[in-house]
Amino acid sequence: MAGSYGLLHDIGRAFGDQSMQIRHIFEGYHFLMDEGYPDAARICLTHSFPVQDIHAVTGVWDCTQDEYVFLDNYLQKIEYDSYDKLIQFCDNIALPEGIVTLEKRMVDIVLRYGFDAENTVARWEKLFSIKAELEAAMGCSVEDALGLRVLVEVPDCFLETGG
Ligand SMILES: [Fe+2]
Repeated sequence: MAGSYGLLHDIGRAFGDQSMQIRHIFEGYHFLMDEGYPDAARICLTHSFPVQDIHAVTGVWDCTQDEYVFLDNYLQKIEYDSYDKLIQFCDNIALPEGIVTLEKRMVDIVLRYGFDAENTVARWEKLFSIKAELEAAMGCSVEDALGLRVLVEVPDCFLETGG
C-alpha cells in the first residue's frame, strides 16, 4: 500500500494548472474519494502536514474557506498512522532529480518558500522525529538504506587524540 500511496499522493496536480499550490491536496482528495479510495485520499491531505496543524503549512493557500475549515477539522480529528508519516517523510527527501538527504530537501524548501519563523523549525523537528522512527524500525539509517551518503574513511592520523 505504501508504494501506491506514494504514487498517488500528488495526483491532484493532474487536475490544475501549474500555478496550483496547496489546492492540489484537495484535488487529489476529492478525486480519490470519488474513485472509492478513502485511505489514499487521506494521504493526499496529510502529506503536506507533518505537523498536524493547519497553520503549519509550507506554500500558498489557494483553496476555498470551506476547504480550509474542512481540513482544519480533519487534521484535528485524525491520528497519524505509519502511512501518513512515511509519505510525509518520503515527500521530504524527494527532488525532481531524485532522492536526497532530508537536510538537502529542507534547504530546498526554505529557498523556494522562505523561512517561516513560526513553522519551519517545527516541521524540521517533526520530520527528523519521523526519520528516527523509520530508522528504529529498519535498524539502519535512511542514508544507508538508500545509499544517500558516501562515507569516506578517515585516515588514522586524523583520529589520534593524544597530545
Ligand atoms: Fe504534494
